Amino acid sequence: MTATSHNTIEELLTDWMRAAFEKAHPDASDALGKVSVVSTASAEFGDYQCNAAMGLAKVLKRSPRDIAQVVVDSIDLHDAVDRVEIAGAGFLNIYLSDGWLGAQLVAMIATERVGVPECETGKTIVMDYGSPNMSKPLHIGHLRSPNIGSTLDRMHRFLGCKVIADNHLGDWGTQFGITLMGYRHFGDEQAMKEAPMEELERVYVESYDRGKSDDVWKKQCREELVKLQSGDEENLTLWKMFMSLSLKELDRVYARLGVSFDVVRGESYYSDKLQGIIDFLTDKGIAEKSEGAMVVFLEEEKLPVAIVQKSDGGFNYATTDLATIVDREAEFKPDKVLYITDERQQLHFKQLFTIAKKMGIEVDLEHVWFGLMRLPEGTFSTRDGNVIKLERLLDEAELRALAIVKEQSPDMDEVVQQEVARAVGMGAVKYADLSQNTQSLVTFTWDKAMALNGNSAPYLQYAYARIASVRDKYAERFPDGNIDAHAISITEATERALAVKLIRFPETLIRATQASKPNVLCDYLYELAQAYSSYYQNVPFLKAEEGTRESRVRLCGVAAAVIKKGLDLLGIDTPARI
Ligand code: ARG
Repeated sequence: MTATSHNTIEELLTDWMRAAFEKAHPDASDALGKVSVVSTASAEFGDYQCNAAMGLAKVLKRSPRDIAQVVVDSIDLHDAVDRVEIAGAGFLNIYLSDGWLGAQLVAMIATERVGVPECETGKTIVMDYGSPNMSKPLHIGHLRSPNIGSTLDRMHRFLGCKVIADNHLGDWGTQFGITLMGYRHFGDEQAMKEAPMEELERVYVESYDRGKSDDVWKKQCREELVKLQSGDEENLTLWKMFMSLSLKELDRVYARLGVSFDVVRGESYYSDKLQGIIDFLTDKGIAEKSEGAMVVFLEEEKLPVAIVQKSDGGFNYATTDLATIVDREAEFKPDKVLYITDERQQLHFKQLFTIAKKMGIEVDLEHVWFGLMRLPEGTFSTRDGNVIKLERLLDEAELRALAIVKEQSPDMDEVVQQEVARAVGMGAVKYADLSQNTQSLVTFTWDKAMALNGNSAPYLQYAYARIASVRDKYAERFPDGNIDAHAISITEATERALAVKLIRFPETLIRATQASKPNVLCDYLYELAQAYSSYYQNVPFLKAEEGTRESRVRLCGVAAAVIKKGLDLLGIDTPARI
């Protein structure tokens, strides 16, 4: 933020309001720590609001309205504030001064950061996302983790955090025993050449199904895994082949999504550390033998027992994850580790974090889980059984986007049309996911994802292109004009609404990041685009008088910069034209 040491306007106003309460009600000192100012949901409650008077009524034995009145009577107005009004039961509605708003907006576009402070500097976070189970094709269920994860990653980095993004590949687990058996018994060489990932999936499914009714087979699958995990030459060679095919596909899809990592350490990376974990757990009396397996009882924590080593000697998901925590803590000394996976892993992480604590690990561990993603029946043409491959979803997104671009800009060069379609298609898919409340089931529909007039990426990309073009139009009409020599002055109601929305970008972004909720940022951007739209429809820009004209074009520039930065953080490109 501008000349203050505050990270956000909410913080700035909170400090100011707290001082006002201290001055007005010195006898309530202990309770004043709770005084806070937050942005309002609607302009009828002012721009920011404080409801502390309600909480103090008991302590001060006075009515909240009285308490608020004493504050207002003795308050020293801050530069940022035009007036404070008492409303309802004793709310303090704060109205920002138009002059300060204008100056604030100018300060925002003075730097690339559009007013966002680097408030997380000094923090280190390991982020574990992507992390698919290997040797099977990626399907639509594999979108959310890299998409939400890479977005939270960018948001944290932008706030100054040091992030270590780790793609924790599932490359050492049960599915390899099943695939090894399947490949040996019914693998088809020709099919492996033509469509290897599909063939690997086919043998996996066949082998898995056989294990359902054939216990001997199931046992053999487990034995193959144990052999692999203990370094059997032949199994390792096959494993390497499966992995390299699988990685090729992964790299291709992640490149399309624009997702990349600082480290890619599969579960196998920790293979020689697993026995050490079991030894440690046993020594400390944390794990014990039960029915042949090594387990940790978590009754006190009201959690089911966790197996850390299977009765056949094999290590499992929990063992690897414990070794991973120990390793990450030693190497990166993070303040926090974030895991981004679907909701089905909640129990696993609860157990894991509890065991880690018992081991004396102090790093803050957090599971950010999300609901599953599905498609309504019949929306998709290409189907492989009932799993839809992620690549097909991305292909179709680009095709649909190309149709939109061709319709909107028939005169555009074809190569450019393709590029724009890629940005719009990927944007649409990503945003359709990110804009949903993380913890709800997402039903993906093309109509919603591609809507040019709804809460979608194409809508925002289109809005951005239009807003950004205002400056170009100005330059055409007024080649000698100098927008930046003029202050931003706020005179109209729709202009003010837009300005207030814009200055809330930093606090909204910080809130979204801290809550691990990209949808908070999406909602903000959508509301911002709507605020712009009513401004645009109600107020003349280029036809306004000199001075006002420049101020308005400059305000458009702030709106464009904020939308661009917001979309950028969501991993969505902003073409100059659609
Ligand atoms: N490979 C797991 C899966 O696909 C996700 C791994 C998440 N990360 C972790 N450290 N457990 O379900």
